[in-house]
Amino acid sequence: MAELSADLGFCTLKNPVIPASGTFGYGEEFLPFFDLDLLGALILKGIFRKPRSGNPPPRLAETPAGVLNSIGLAGPGSEKLQEIIRRLHAKTRTPIIVNVCGEDDREFEEVAEIFSAMAEVAMLELNISCPNIKKGGACPAQDAGHTSRLVRRVKKVVRKPLIVKLSPNTADIVGVARAAEGAGADAISLVNTFLGLAVDLEKRKPVFANTLAGLSGPAIKPLALKLVWEVCRQVRIPVIGMGGITSGRDVLDYILVGAAAVQIGTVNFCEPGAAVRIIGEIEAEMDKLQIKNLSEIRGKLQA
Ligand code: FUM
Repeated sequence: MAELSADLGFCTLKNPVIPASGTFGYGEEFLPFFDLDLLGALILKGIFRKPRSGNPPPRLAETPAGVLNSIGLAGPGSEKLQEIIRRLHAKTRTPIIVNVCGEDDREFEEVAEIFSAMAEVAMLELNISCPNIKKGGACPAQDAGHTSRLVRRVKKVVRKPLIVKLSPNTADIVGVARAAEGAGADAISLVNTFLGLAVDLEKRKPVFANTLAGLSGPAIKPLALKLVWEVCRQVRIPVIGMGGITSGRDVLDYILVGAAAVQIGTVNFCEPGAAVRIIGEIEAEMDKLQIKNLSEIRGKLQA
């Protein structure tokens, strides 16, 4: 039987499958579907210091091979999330990762410090890449200098591994990844959604109030895989790959280009049990290809 453990350097996950932030609620919503202990880890929906209502509707628009979202990081605020995490931790031993958000650098720091102090939280993911907060999709992860300053600042106050989530909406994602690494990030996750546009032909207007929105789903897999491959060759810290994963085979593709683990996102919306199916498929695929463990193929793409 294939060995599925995923080595992140600072910890080992039982398998490489991690539901992505914003696609898995706060974990509890998925308890009726499967045992959360089966997951490698899980990432909660992004959180700000205070409750946040997010963007006006519509917030989702389907595309032929994916979905555009403009949620605007709606959430209950950090106090409420602490209660949720305590409840969730009582129901699962799977490592809980908090997706940390901020309107500005100070808020990122504050929120990171709050959740770093919780024993129930295993790691933090710094969400510097949401395209739905500022008009035009601007976010810190579009700029290497800003990324460096912000990661350095947050690292000073946290005592948990810090994963920095990158955006594909920049001309130089490798430069941003290196800036995050240089500033002390323990790992990098990529990619967040690609900026896209949907229009209402009758009204002659954009579908979304914020004009642009973030595209995810199978349509982005080849684009995301390329970026993960490029970043993996240029940084030494572990990379968590994501973008359009729907099968065990997709997961192995990401491992082959160098990812240490993966996040699965959009597929959770249409198939709540997808994570468990995908974990089973990874094992079956590895057995079929006679791959004993993930390190055997990690970063072994011959190109
Ligand atoms: O709009 C949103 O809540 C999306 C968040 C993200 O892409 O990080």
